[in-house]
Amino acid sequence: MARTTATYECEACGATSPRWVGRCPACGEWNRLVEHSVERPPSRPGPTAAELDRLVLPLHEVTTDAAGSLSTGVTALDRVMSGGVLPGSVTLLGGEPGIGKSTLLLQAISAVASRGERTLLVAAEESAEQVRRRAARLGPLPPDCFVCAATDLEVALGAAGHLRPALLVVDSIQAVATSSSSAAPGSIGQVRECAQLLARHAKSTGLATVLVGHVTKDGALAGPRTLEHLVDTVLAFEGDRHHALRTLVALKHRFGPTGELGLLEMGEHGLTSVDDPSALLFEDRRPQAAGSALFPLVEGRRPLLVEVQALVASAAGAPRRVANGASGTRLAMLLAVLERCCGTRFGSLDVFVSTVGGIRATEPALDLPLVLAVCSALVGVPLPDDLACFGEVGLTGELRRVERADRRLAEAARLGIGRAIVPAGSPEGPASVRLDRVGSVREALLAVGLSELVPARPAGRPASGRGGAGHGGRTAPAGAPHLAVLAPLSDDRT
Ligand code: TYD
Ligand code: MG
Repeated sequence: MARTTATYECEACGATSPRWVGRCPACGEWNRLVEHSVERPPSRPGPTAAELDRLVLPLHEVTTDAAGSLSTGVTALDRVMSGGVLPGSVTLLGGEPGIGKSTLLLQAISAVASRGERTLLVAAEESAEQVRRRAARLGPLPPDCFVCAATDLEVALGAAGHLRPALLVVDSIQAVATSSSSAAPGSIGQVRECAQLLARHAKSTGLATVLVGHVTKDGALAGPRTLEHLVDTVLAFEGDRHHALRTLVALKHRFGPTGELGLLEMGEHGLTSVDDPSALLFEDRRPQAAGSALFPLVEGRRPLLVEVQALVASAAGAPRRVANGASGTRLAMLLAVLERCCGTRFGSLDVFVSTVGGIRATEPALDLPLVLAVCSALVGVPLPDDLACFGEVGLTGELRRVERADRRLAEAARLGIGRAIVPAGSPEGPASVRLDRVGSVREALLAVGLSELVPARPAGRPASGRGGAGHGGRTAPAGAPHLAVLAPLSDDRT
């Protein structure tokens, strides 16, 4: 006999509790627990000897699926997914509304169908006509590309069973609901139940399945903990909705490495994979701009030359620290290091930093470009146009070596960079890039000619002017080194 037991589930985070409580112990939200009845199957006897013979095998006897991964026809998507989607796998594509998830997957199903493989899009958010209208912008539609506008998961699974496609896309997992769950449509319980049923279907039929998941403002997929372990691959599709460039990365990937970066550009006719992102990012760079530094980033196997920009301005109220594409905590730490080792005070200043093109950089190697961009913005003096830099900054202002320096330098050289500020001990790069190996933030500032930010005396004690050093020979009044540093902000030379 099946027994029914009740558990309580938080609609905000998906945590469960055996009894009702007013405040979710996991996420702290009030009044979000709802009753969720779970039907326990009757206990069954253990497997028979014959069943065990079938279930337990020497690993080398397990047959692998002869079919390899299915190329999606979108170069950037294939790159991030190590070649394409695997039969029987479930992929979750997460991104903010409007970023281009539906467009990307429509292009993928259309490309797969144009090779003669059947594909099915379950459109739970749009009507078939709306999908058709969008598809019209993307090019000719092959006959093997099918659409089923439905929000019932049973209808979606029925359609997949009837059509037997090679690729199934469900857009979106938050918009479908199953009658097997009593949870409200759109709730965590529903989303999880639907994802579970789709994953079971994918595994049992070998159907490659891609689920679209909307991301909330703080970047979390709705029910992240409950969905991420159900799927094989989690992709994050990001970028600025108002700019054309989009990045695609795998946050989890069971069948290959994560960290591979795919870049796409949204245009009139959908998304195009960007083959040379560095060149694209580099094109719009304004020469001789104060507050700009070049950073050779390495995401996955591919290096990318990214411009880091900074703006420093007097704060009207409480000083703000805003970091786009970089970590705000890291920025605060770097400003504290600068204050400590150079006496540069940011207490009354707003500091904004951003990576150009919406590229998100989380590497510690970004520290030095951030520091140099902020310092260059602070004094209004541009860094040399053909200079790149990278390195991790420690709490005492020392510069630490970072991985894959050779690849970073090679990418810089490819784009005509002639000089790089790198941590001491970094390996040699291409002959065309002159290396300045430095051991600390102070040395780096001296190397790029921002010597006015480096007090002659040890940090913590006021510097007493620095006759003629630096740019334009500005002199700091005794006891207030940062005041001299602030002066050029009003006569921005760029
Ligand atoms: P969409 O794929 O609907 O985003 P999501 O599914 O992530 O919510 O794409 C939304 C935006 O993309 C929309 O503002 C229109 C724009 N777009 C283009 O610029 N070019 C195109 O060819 C298409 C199809 C969409
Ligand atoms: Mg959409």
